[in-house]
Amino acid sequence: MQQEAITVLRLTQKETEDLKVGVNLVNGPSDKKFAIYRPAELTDGEEGENIGIRACMNICKHQGGTFIKDIEDLDSSVLRCTKHGWRLDCQTMQYVNPPNSFRQEELIPEFGEDGGLKLVELRPPQPWQQDPRNALEIKPGEVEVTYFSHACVEMKLGEVRMFTDPWLTGPAFARGWWLLHEPPCDWLDRLASTDFIYISHLHSDHLSYPTLEQLYKRNPDVPIYVGDVSTPVFSKMEEHGVKMNNITVLEFGVWKEINADLRFMILMDGVHPELDTCLLIDYKGHFILDTVDCTNPNGGRLPHNVDVMMSDFAGGAAGFPMTFHGGKYTEDWKRNFIKSERRKLLYYKTQVVRKVNPVVYFPFAGYFVEAHPSDKYIKDTNAKISPNALNDLINKHSPDIKTWTPLPGSMFDLGKILKDKDDITAFRDPPPGTKILKDDWDFDKYLDAIDASIYNEIFAYPEWVEFYYKWCQFKNYNLVVKMIETDDNFQPIEGAYTYMVDFVGEVPTFPSERPDRTHNYLEIRNRIGVHRQTMLTGMFWDDLYIGFNNRITRDPDTFHYQFWNYMQVLLPQEPPKWEEFLEEQRAKGARGRSVWAPSNKALIKGTTRVPQSYSSILCTAALSMAVGVAAAVALRILVRSR
Ligand code: FES
Repeated sequence: MQQEAITVLRLTQKETEDLKVGVNLVNGPSDKKFAIYRPAELTDGEEGENIGIRACMNICKHQGGTFIKDIEDLDSSVLRCTKHGWRLDCQTMQYVNPPNSFRQEELIPEFGEDGGLKLVELRPPQPWQQDPRNALEIKPGEVEVTYFSHACVEMKLGEVRMFTDPWLTGPAFARGWWLLHEPPCDWLDRLASTDFIYISHLHSDHLSYPTLEQLYKRNPDVPIYVGDVSTPVFSKMEEHGVKMNNITVLEFGVWKEINADLRFMILMDGVHPELDTCLLIDYKGHFILDTVDCTNPNGGRLPHNVDVMMSDFAGGAAGFPMTFHGGKYTEDWKRNFIKSERRKLLYYKTQVVRKVNPVVYFPFAGYFVEAHPSDKYIKDTNAKISPNALNDLINKHSPDIKTWTPLPGSMFDLGKILKDKDDITAFRDPPPGTKILKDDWDFDKYLDAIDASIYNEIFAYPEWVEFYYKWCQFKNYNLVVKMIETDDNFQPIEGAYTYMVDFVGEVPTFPSERPDRTHNYLEIRNRIGVHRQTMLTGMFWDDLYIGFNNRITRDPDTFHYQFWNYMQVLLPQEPPKWEEFLEEQRAKGARGRSVWAPSNKALIKGTTRVPQSYSSILCTAALSMAVGVAAAVALRILVRSR
């Protein structure tokens, strides 16, 4: 298969001459939309080659939204996406919100002999198009897909059995996410004897160390395959005390042959290529596509008419906006945002599935619950899309796609479906007596392990703050972050640290007040246990942010992609050398703080009363902090951000 150059838009000479200086939004054939930037001076290159015009499809890289001009700034080269407000500068084809983030793929502008402009899209051959195979018959019982939990399924592919993303016990994101479904009770036996496991990315609802810890004790040699992302999926394995012996990192877009019938390849995500991956399996010429959490799997270029497709569906997998407060983040605003956001996501997911047009589709990778009582506010407000709502919408527009809502232990038989789509015996319910929903999560076991970090000796010495942020190496970014340790309910706590870090220079500084210069500012309240565990182990900040373990206010109200991406994906792989730090402190006879940790577990838990909303916590917290400068600063920030 060759690379193709497809002309996606042709303008006449008159239409070309009518292009205004600046951004032109143009509708093309088949509902295709384009953004064309025309500079004040057009330069002709050799042989009609154009230099100056820049053009792209009017499709937002995030979730396929459409760009429009900002009504308040019609002459700007910056467009705004109508879905979630990302901004694209068409003069540079660089996204400016999120700042310092993505580039838009460009079309090639060419002038024809008639003086008209045409836009050409270069379509590289897709890796699965190399060495294609004819689809052979699959017999009943030959290919079976059994759902376990969240993003974990077991697939029987002829003689081979494989698992995806086994999160089967314990929490994810420190203590923020818990399994909604009770996995089949023999999960460990089946996982330990499987032929191989695919792990899509390092987020802990996919790379679950509590699960791997049990697998490791049973069979540390199970082959595990991951994609070659820039931050290795297993970069923090040692910090978790697990050592799987048989991990293979695969290049993207290259078939991994398992046997004569079975091969698979890992593909990257168009929005988070450094993090997310997805999986394409070819069994006897039949494709199974698992797009997992990819926002824009393989940059939107996916095989069509696959046999099986599964993808995430639920939304609500981040702290935004439920963990934000101040300014526009009222309860009403959040409720409306969530409602409209979920509606957009529902349509986007439907669109992606319909484009791929699988024989069978099922939603997964969204079955979690904020089960811990201290996260009741999040659980009550962080509404998610129901799998049935997505399946219904797909069926409404594409009745030929067979949809399935999986339950633990339920399965389907692909051979039967391919023979007769209406064969009701192709789908099997969970075995009788199967427990579907979890109702016990053993909270204390996991929370106690997290909270043990609070009492690590390093926190006796306030110098740990400087040591950590120098290790972290985030720099040259005009951002000041104030970190406040709190109890589980985000209230002040005995022995806590409150500190400020200024990232503007080559090395971080630690001012006691916000600097006078214009700067970006984040104030983050963090549960003390998760905060100290994150600092101590050098692990990514997902546990804090995605795990709902902090509360954030920001001024101005901007998403700092560069900061969060660094803290969540790019931190140094080697953890901080705390032994050296302690030796230093001892050598210089540092005395440390007299009180540097809460004196008991009840204090860490905070009040047993679960607050109605974060606004009420904030008021209580701000009032109880009314001591000296700290309260004055907190209140000043609050007033300013409204
Ligand atoms: S910002 Fe464009 S689709 Fe989300």
